[in-house]
Amino acid sequence: LTRERYPVKRLPFSVVSGEDLAAFERIVPGRVITDPEVLEASNVDWLRTVRGSSVLLLRPRTTEEVSHILRHCHERNLAVNPQGGNTGMVGGSVPVFDEVILSTALMNQVISFHNMSGTLVCQAGCVLEDLSRHVEERGFVMPLDLGAKGSCHIGGNVATNAGGLRFLRYGSLHGTVLGLEAVLADGTVLNCLSTLRKDNTGYDLKQLFIGSEGTLGVITAVSILCPPKPRAVSVAFLGCPGFSEVLQTFTTCKGLLGEILSAYEFMDAECMWLVTHHLRLASPVQESPFYVLIETSGSRAGHDAEKLNDFLEQVLSSGLVTDGTVATDHLKVKALWALRERISEALSRDGYVYKYDLSLPTERLYDLVTDLRVRLGPRAKHVVGYGHLGDGNLHLNVTSEAFSPSVLGTLEPYVYEWTAEQRGSVSAEHGLGFKKRGVLGYSKPPEALRLMRQLKALLDPKGILNPYKTLPAQA
Ligand code: FAD
Ligand code: MLT
Ligand code: ZN
Repeated sequence: LTRERYPVKRLPFSVVSGEDLAAFERIVPGRVITDPEVLEASNVDWLRTVRGSSVLLLRPRTTEEVSHILRHCHERNLAVNPQGGNTGMVGGSVPVFDEVILSTALMNQVISFHNMSGTLVCQAGCVLEDLSRHVEERGFVMPLDLGAKGSCHIGGNVATNAGGLRFLRYGSLHGTVLGLEAVLADGTVLNCLSTLRKDNTGYDLKQLFIGSEGTLGVITAVSILCPPKPRAVSVAFLGCPGFSEVLQTFTTCKGLLGEILSAYEFMDAECMWLVTHHLRLASPVQESPFYVLIETSGSRAGHDAEKLNDFLEQVLSSGLVTDGTVATDHLKVKALWALRERISEALSRDGYVYKYDLSLPTERLYDLVTDLRVRLGPRAKHVVGYGHLGDGNLHLNVTSEAFSPSVLGTLEPYVYEWTAEQRGSVSAEHGLGFKKRGVLGYSKPPEALRLMRQLKALLDPKGILNPYKTLPAQA
């Protein structure tokens, strides 16, 4: 299925032999998995649209074990697929052919947490939600949050430079990751696990690995700066009559909520239909063409409530918002967030999903959705728009009963050309992985692509790390 849709040829890597298995058994005893049933889950991605045929899954516990594995693979010319929680959206997390899967699932130890600075140092396989719990018990929060928190690993988050729901407030992982440790393709351990806020001693090498999607090295540990846990969190879920009102509400919100604004997410009526029908979630507000979720995080509940009330009064009286609800209670806050966080889950229950993750000028962000609804007509079940509006990031998703070449032909290259015309990005936060590697050229000039290839050749001369991913296929 995968190879028909994305034609690609296996590169001349070696095939895993009995001797290789014996060598791996010495490196990670009892953690060399060849059982096809166990391997199945690691061969298929979350969206269930790409499938590899790896016969080997390795589960190291330490950096040293990762180093020995890679040294062996490098010597033997075996291709490797680093894998975290396997929640990636672009087919980067699963093998394309028979690459050895190197999972970080057992590298799940917190190494240290500094109570004063909020600096967390941990292994790459820690699950994001576990880390959130760990730091929240100590009065801090993780600087990132996403719907996949229950499964994704911090190493996978760093490898994809995941954005998510707190980006608006705490910014990119390029700013919050203070250091990392990575193992290079030949087994060299690069220890840049600094915990310093400032360190201008030459090139900032860790930045190369943030967003490198497992193509330059295997991230084995990270050090990350956690902000203090806000004492007061409120969520407002509002209905808006049009996209223009969504934008004006955002402007009003920035003006009136200012420093306490911590998320501004939007979803359209079709998204609400999907979560209420497929997941049986209840909408808390009257039916509207658009919905926005606004989160505030501050240090004094009274002060935040006052600001939020002023804001709500203004947007309701001016007609920008037609209905809304506010929650401060933890469970109600969680229920409101679920409406937004679980859209991708509802979409995958609807049919085959064509997924686009674009950065666009905010004013034009929804035009593409409206335009595609007309172009696709009844061939699409749903054409939906949602996402991190506060960051200019649209998630445009289309579903059809089953994969349809005609729907794909209408979507591509149209979506990418439209995005390039706006000087947007064809991958705002999900990365390129296997599915999007061919479209990098819409957002980057040839000179940048050439430099990326040179860096890849320097760090991974045999190309064993995540081949067929991120960089376009060589002509
Ligand atoms: P995987 O999926 O296992 O891997 C992703 C990529 O990173 C692969 O290329 C893999 O080879 C590489 N990789 C993994 N671990 C390592 C490592 N230790 N060293 C080197 N390379 C590695 N993304 C967002 O940006 N924002 C969102 O809001 C968001 N929400 C999501 C919600 C849901 C429900 C789901 C399913 C996904 C969502 N994602 C989101 C996608 C996002 O990319 C992942 O959830 C997450 O960052 C990937 O982490 P993972 O551990 O699952 O990595
Ligand atoms: C989200 O914001 O919900 C995620 O990035 C997942 C998706 O795009 O569906
Ligand atoms: Zn997202």
